[in-house]
Amino acid sequence: TTDTMIEKARAIVDAHRHLEGPLLPILHAVQAEFGYVPRDVQPAIADALNISRAEIHGVVSFYHDYRSEPAGRHVIRICRSEACQSMGGEAAAASLLQKLGLDWHQTSADGAVTVEPVYCLGLCACSPAAMVDGDVYGRLDDETINDILEEVRT
Ligand code: FES
Repeated sequence: TTDTMIEKARAIVDAHRHLEGPLLPILHAVQAEFGYVPRDVQPAIADALNISRAEIHGVVSFYHDYRSEPAGRHVIRICRSEACQSMGGEAAAASLLQKLGLDWHQTSADGAVTVEPVYCLGLCACSPAAMVDGDVYGRLDDETINDILEEVRT
């Protein structure tokens, strides 16, 4: 329930508030706990740290690692860093997003899949690269993109 979530978030705040610049470690821990930083707990964090709700919201939206909605059952991370870009990464990403009918950071209405950008997966040698849950996909082309679409349909 929301109350339990807020309680847990408060405990996380208490465990980190002694740190200098506690907000990011707190958001990190909250996301590790819930898988996202629920909007319902953001006011409690703001109040505990004596900062505005707008500030928390700003930080959560600014850092791509944080999300305020639960992710889909599958998360596709597409590399948007240089090596991948130079090998047609943007076109591959655009094609995949278009086939899914999603934009970056969006989750499909059925909750099956979320698409996130990532900045180098360490797979530059087989760029353009993507990762689906824990699996890596290199040399994205129509075929690999179809494999990915198959993978997230299950
Ligand atoms: Fe894309 Fe390194 S730049 S994997």
